[in-house]
Amino acid sequence: MKITLSIIKADIGGFVGHSDIHPAVRKCCEEHLEKAKKDGLIIDYSRGEVGDDTAMIMSHTRGIENEDIHRFAWDTFIAMTEVAKEYGQYGAGQDLLTDAFSGNLRGMGPGFAEMTFEERPSEPVICFLADKTEPGAWNYPLYKIFADPFNTIGLVIDPSMHEGFRFEVLDLIEEKQIILKAPEDLYDLLLFIGSPSRYVIKYVYRADSDEPVAVTSTQRLFLMAGRYIGKDDPVMMVRAQSGLPAVGEVLEPFSFPHAVAGWMRGSHHGPLMPVGTEDDTPTRFDGPPRVVALGFQLTQGKLVGPRDMFADKSYDNARKMALDAADYLRRHGPFEPHRLPLDEMEYTTMPSVLKKLEGKFTASKEKQKK
Ligand code: F6R
Ligand code: MG
Ligand code: MG
Repeated sequence: MKITLSIIKADIGGFVGHSDIHPAVRKCCEEHLEKAKKDGLIIDYSRGEVGDDTAMIMSHTRGIENEDIHRFAWDTFIAMTEVAKEYGQYGAGQDLLTDAFSGNLRGMGPGFAEMTFEERPSEPVICFLADKTEPGAWNYPLYKIFADPFNTIGLVIDPSMHEGFRFEVLDLIEEKQIILKAPEDLYDLLLFIGSPSRYVIKYVYRADSDEPVAVTSTQRLFLMAGRYIGKDDPVMMVRAQSGLPAVGEVLEPFSFPHAVAGWMRGSHHGPLMPVGTEDDTPTRFDGPPRVVALGFQLTQGKLVGPRDMFADKSYDNARKMALDAADYLRRHGPFEPHRLPLDEMEYTTMPSVLKKLEGKFTASKEKQKK
């Protein structure tokens, strides 16, 4: 059976500040999802969250970017915003950038990651949800999962993975894309995805098939809104096992809390800390950035799960490393490399600060002498 999995996510208000979601807002989302299932719009669902972001994880047979599914998600976010306003939630409706829905969610604010595939006899899927970071945060783990034999031994010893994987990489600034294949194009691939603020992996495919095995949300709010709104807090879905990386290989990259852009005011580098759902509430300096992993066995479109994959003890060292890295970076205060480099600050609130200083700048003495 061909199934589409859609994760559609948005921050529609935080409890308290940008750290969590109010129970009444959660309830509203659950009710809408349950109704969509009853009405036959979707086969199944699971509501996920991380920090102040709600993710609707839905299975259906309508394909990606389907108008009915996207409209449902939009209407649900609007309803949740009403509840968020009632409870005075911070930034209620902050990710909903337009008033009227028009066909699909492209450019409207909410992020989405969707893929359609033939469901295998057993289909393990991991949904990753991150808060206080941007879509390029997935580049490092996707590279490790699908291209690095030091992470994924299956690339070496499983004959069905030996041909490698193809990566669809988007240039978010020039709106171009390129497909690069590992291992053949490894160095070219790294050249791009090593700059995650601009180049992001959208899909991963097996070498011999156009069916996606992983997908990310690549929406960047500042590009849509033309002003700083907050970080995009991306999601990712990865299929696992039987000729694909094993669940343990999919989770392994997160044993290193790599540095990502985001954290306080979307303007700082910090470690991406893997956490169980109990600990998904970024608090210290609005962070540090974090990621949860919800595991499902998909069967006949039913989402059996979730299992809270990062609740496992084996991620304790990664958390410790992340907290130590957070201490180290925080001591830089407003200095780079904790604070993002200048060119990236242009996408946050920096331009409005600079505007005030316009006219105060004069030519330097060196220049005047010329
Ligand atoms: C980062 C984030 C927060 C806010 C910060 C300031 O993605 O959401 O760190 O940027 O709390 O928020 P405002 O400007 O709304 O007071
Ligand atoms: Mg928020
Ligand atoms: Mg958020």
